[in-house]
Amino acid sequence: MTDQKQEQLKRAEGFPFERVPAPLIAWYRANKRDLPWRVNPTPYRVWVSEIMLQQTRVEAAKEYYLRFLSALPTVFDLAACEEEKLLKLWEGLGYYSRVRNMQKAAKLVVENYGGEFPAEEKALKGLPGIGDYTVGAVLSIAFGLPYPAVDGNVLRVLSRVSENPSDISDTKYREFLREKLRAVYPQDRQGCSDFTQALMELGALICKPAVIECSVCPLKELCSARKNGTQKEYPVMPEKKGKREESLFVFVIETEKGIAIRKREAGVLKGMNEFPSAVVKEGDLPEETLKEWGVSAFNIVRQKKYTHIFTHIRWNMTCFFVRAEDAPFAAYSREEIEREVALPTAFKQCLGVMID
Ligand code: ADE
Repeated sequence: MTDQKQEQLKRAEGFPFERVPAPLIAWYRANKRDLPWRVNPTPYRVWVSEIMLQQTRVEAAKEYYLRFLSALPTVFDLAACEEEKLLKLWEGLGYYSRVRNMQKAAKLVVENYGGEFPAEEKALKGLPGIGDYTVGAVLSIAFGLPYPAVDGNVLRVLSRVSENPSDISDTKYREFLREKLRAVYPQDRQGCSDFTQALMELGALICKPAVIECSVCPLKELCSARKNGTQKEYPVMPEKKGKREESLFVFVIETEKGIAIRKREAGVLKGMNEFPSAVVKEGDLPEETLKEWGVSAFNIVRQKKYTHIFTHIRWNMTCFFVRAEDAPFAAYSREEIEREVALPTAFKQCLGVMID
C-alpha cells in the first residue's frame, strides 16, 4: 500500500461515526417509504423480505412479498409447504437455493424453537442461508437490538461519507464497519430498527450509485466525499471478473400429451424444472440430441436464440420448437406450466419460440 493510501485509510478509519445516527434517523422518520414489510415487522416477515431483497429490487420485491406472505403467513406454513408450490412462489426471482434454504431454516425454527425465531446472533447464524447481513436485519428491525446490517447500499453510503479506500469485497473492511456502527447504535428498540433501515434508505433514495443527491442529504455536513467532490470515486469495487460462457440447445417439445418438462440433474439450476436441454459445442446438431433422447418422429418447426446471464455464467441458448409423436419426458399443457410448474426465467423466455 502506498504511503498516501495508508494515510487516507487512517483518516477514513477516524471518521466520527457517532455523528451519523441522529440526523439520519430524523431524516428517515420524515422521509421513509411505505413498504409492505415495514408494517408489522415480525422476525418471520422481516426475514422473508430481506432474503427477497437480496435477490431483487424493492419495486419488484413488493409483489412477490405480498403473494408469499398471503400464501405462507407463518413460519409453520413455510416449513410445511410442498416444494413445487414454494418454487412457484419464488419463480422469476432466481437463485432457487435461497428459498430451499429458507424452508430448511423454517423447519429448524419450528423443530428447535417452537416456531419463534431466536433473538440471538449465534442461534440465527446457525440457520441455513442466514449470514451477517440477515442476522443484523432481523435482530435490529424485528427485535429492536443494536445490530447493523451492512449491504451494498450501506457500504456505498459509509465508504463515501468517510472516503474509505478499502475494497468493499474485503471482509475485514465489512467487519470494521459493523464494529464501528455497533458502537454507535441507539439504545432504544425503535431507534435500532430505524437506524438499520435509515442507512439502507439513504443509499436507495439519496446516495445512489450514479445519481447522487447531496443537496438534500441529511449527512451532507459530515460527508468527506462531498467536501472533496470525490463522491463518484467511492465505493471502491472489486475488479470485475469475466463470465464463463456456455452454449445450450433447449428444446420446447410439443406432443399430444403436452409440452415436455424435466428436472435438471446437474449444473446451474440443478433440481429445477427445464425444457430438456443440453450443453453443446460448435458443430453439434440438434437432431442428434433428440435422437439420443429417444424423441420419435420429430420435426423442428422453428428456432430462436436467447441469452440468460447468471452471476457467474452466461448462457448462449439456441431454442428449438419441436413437434414430435412422443418424447420420454413428463408433459404439461401451457396453462399448467403457467399455473403450477416453477420454471426459471432462463427457460420461461423460451416459450416465445412457439409463437414468434
Ligand atoms: N433493501 C434491503 N433491505 C431493505 C429494507 N428493509 N427496506 C428497503 N430496502 C431494503
